[in-house]
Formats: sequence, C-alpha cells, structure tokens
Amino acid sequence: MNRLIAPSILSADFANLQRDVEMLNNSDADWIHVDVMDGKFVPNISFGFPVIKAIKQYTTKPLDVHLMIVEPDRYLKDFKDAGADHITVHYEACVHLNRTVRAIKDLGCTAGVSLNPHTPVALLADIITEIDLVLIMSVNPGFGGQKFIQNTYKKLTDLKQLIDDTGADVYVEVDGGLSDGNIKQLSEAGANVFVAGNSVFSANDPSQMISRLKSI
Ligand code: DX5
Ligand code: ZN
Repeated sequence: MNRLIAPSILSADFANLQRDVEMLNNSDADWIHVDVMDGKFVPNISFGFPVIKAIKQYTTKPLDVHLMIVEPDRYLKDFKDAGADHITVHYEACVHLNRTVRAIKDLGCTAGVSLNPHTPVALLADIITEIDLVLIMSVNPGFGGQKFIQNTYKKLTDLKQLIDDTGADVYVEVDGGLSDGNIKQLSEAGANVFVAGNSVFSANDPSQMISRLKSI
C-alpha cells in the first residue's frame, strides 16, 4: 500500500484555521487527522463539533477523526454529521467494542481501533477482521509534540503477525512523535498511515515537509 500522510490539525494555528486547511488541501497530505480530547480519557481538552464542521467546510481531504474520549458511542452520529470519514475509538475506552465498531460502520464510516502504548496488540485478535484500521499510539495520547516510544516497532511486528494469521485487511496507522527521522523505519515495520502534527506544522515549509514524509 502507498504511504498515506495524515497531518494532525491539533498542531495548526487555530486563529488561521482556514489558511492551514487550505495549505493541507494543496499539499500531498492524504487525510486530515482530527484529535478529539475530552479531558477525561486523556488529560487535555482539544475541540469538538463546531471546529470539525468548520474544517469540513473548507477541506477536500477525508477527515480521520481520532476520539480520545470516554463513552464514544454517545457521540458517533454527531461526529459523522460534523464531517468524519474515518472514526477511530480507543480499545481502552470501549466496554462493548464490537458494538461500537458496528455502530461506526452502520454510519458509513471507516472503523478504527487505537491502542495506547501499554495495550498489547494481541487484544485485537477477536476484532481485527471486523475493523478497517488499527491506530498504534507511539506516545501516550493527550498532547502533540511528545517523544516517540521505541517499543512501537515491536508492536508493529506483533500487528503484522496478527494480520498474517487472521488475513485481516486493515490500515496500520501510527500516531505520535513521527518525523523524517523515523518514518522510513516505521514503513518498513509495516505501518502505512502516518500521523504527523508537530513535525509538519513546526517546519519552515509544512507542505514541503508533508512531501518529504511521503517520499523519504
Ligand atoms: C496525541 C495525538 C496525536 C498528536 C500528533 O494525543 O493523538 O495525533 O497530536 O503528535 P505529534 O505532534 O507528535 O506529531
Ligand atoms: Zn491522534
């Protein structure tokens, strides 16, 4: 699969959101990654529906919505209505994950499941053939600009094995601490969707950095 780049809008300049979304529209970005934080599942609050709707109004790229919230089932339809194309929930936030995944698919969205750094890939064994995307957190979720956790490579190897064993057809997305210094190695380890917030938006030329991440 081609390498897909999903810049995280969390690191954009919210006072110039339209400008940053248009920059992404005109870049090699494949998806826009949208980090929703509730102050409960993670120790930070980001933004909600009005901001997602505003992004949707201006973007030509699919919205990849990463829900770092408890009880995501309560809001799935609202996220779909706000413009989500892909919806990823956290394994750790879902008591009835199979039901949640079905609800996402019933809305017509791509269903993703994310694992915190301490959550083993093996826990996906009975759900992986039902989902479209696995999001491996390579930092503890909650903030942009954190340091990449090296154990991610081992998790990608475990995930590759699980995919081979089950014949699952999933995107393998990694999120947190990505840069032009580790993206190639992550590709080789089996990832194919790459979230990048800080490395893109702190670059002198964000659009050029996106192209670099895609081709390096
Ligand atoms: C972390 C978020 C990430 C983050 C991206 O909780 O899920 O998407 O903003 O991380 P950086 O800024 O390290 O690329
Ligand atoms: Zn994210």
